[in-house]
Amino acid sequence: MESSLDIMQRAARVFTPALHVYYPLPVVRGEGVRVYAADGRSWLDFSSGLAVLALGHNHPRVVTAVKMQLENLIHTGGVYFNETTVTAAEKLVSITPVGLDMLFFSNSGAEAVEGALKVARYVTGRQGIVSFTGAFHGRTLGALSVTTSSAAYRKKYHPLLPSVYQAPYPYCFRCPFQRKPDTCGLCCLQALDETLKHRITADEVAAVIIEPFLGEGGYIPAPAAFLVALRELCTRHGILLIFDEVQSGMGRTGHWFASEVSGVVPDILTVAKGIASGFPLSAVVARKEIMELWPSGAHGTTFGGNPVSCAACSATIDVIQDEALLAKTSSRGATVLDRLRGLAEKYPVIGDVRGHGLMIGIEFVMPDGSPDHVSCEAVLRHCLENGLILINCGIERNVIRFIPPLVTTDQEFEAALGIFHDALRRLL
Ligand SMILES: Cc1ncc(COP(=O)(O)O)c(C=O)c1O
Repeated sequence: MESSLDIMQRAARVFTPALHVYYPLPVVRGEGVRVYAADGRSWLDFSSGLAVLALGHNHPRVVTAVKMQLENLIHTGGVYFNETTVTAAEKLVSITPVGLDMLFFSNSGAEAVEGALKVARYVTGRQGIVSFTGAFHGRTLGALSVTTSSAAYRKKYHPLLPSVYQAPYPYCFRCPFQRKPDTCGLCCLQALDETLKHRITADEVAAVIIEPFLGEGGYIPAPAAFLVALRELCTRHGILLIFDEVQSGMGRTGHWFASEVSGVVPDILTVAKGIASGFPLSAVVARKEIMELWPSGAHGTTFGGNPVSCAACSATIDVIQDEALLAKTSSRGATVLDRLRGLAEKYPVIGDVRGHGLMIGIEFVMPDGSPDHVSCEAVLRHCLENGLILINCGIERNVIRFIPPLVTTDQEFEAALGIFHDALRRLL
């Protein structure tokens, strides 16, 4: 049997170093919440394969649906239709926020973002786009132009798309204006108003794109009041509001989409990651009036809406519904949030625990409150060595994403929280 070192050496020979993989684990099998190496070691995967595996690895109903589809038809390539793809689209628009009822399938989150920006520019005839500090929307050049979670992602790729402006994200734990949420008067939104006064007039802005729950940028839910006011601003100026729910969608927050936490309905929604339990699929979903203004051929794809991915998508939605996973995620999430907040009281290295459902961020801080990525990394390492995969995020890499599959059992939660607590104890 080949050792993990051999596999890592082979990988280093064929993959460009640009490909970042979190951990050098040669995984051969996944089942439920666990992944296994050839030598029998196993880990609880609380990264959910980067917020993808709502149903865990290889959910039997997804596997069955995919196998059946494989027997019949693998590819359509935009040459003809297949019922599986249409069914997945129908199911998806039945769970997206009210009024978002037409979509375009593609393959990745970044591609969905590209589609969202393109349709917004197309139908408004405007060029400007506003995104938020810390946002991550993907690696392709359009998506990268609205991404500011790290300058490293943008380094040496300039010039990016012109007429893209940034406004501050409402990161209340580290308010860029040193204000408190209850009394701030939403000054981050006023900063957006300033942009519209000084840099680009509102009638030149096609879209504002925001993650209602910031992912890669640090696991930060935007306050509902901010999103409500942002919706109002966009409506007032005829600007299309895009919610990027590539990471926060598909049940992770205990709702189908994080937008439901605030009740704000965007004009355009991007969905990927959890949509098909690990098969490549994404979608731009929008109101019919918008989508109908995007004529045939204005956008395209070869693999988007692949029937195998679509079979996985339908099975994923069915399982989330049949197993009442949204309600379970809400109640489990509340319990886990309480437990983690209890640990934060005991261990001052945890400065903030925040989230909805099973999308939880744990922010590590130094005694003076500044970001502490060293402790964060030490906890991640200890967890990995003891059978728990967690990953971090944030510009300072000091936030742990606590994002287990939605099907995680009480026993698995106890095991994971035990390992995590042990890691904190060892830090002292
Ligand atoms: C909010 C958000 N948008 C877009 C993307 C890009 O998705 P992909 O890596 O599938 O292109 C990501 C990926 O992490 C994301 O979190």
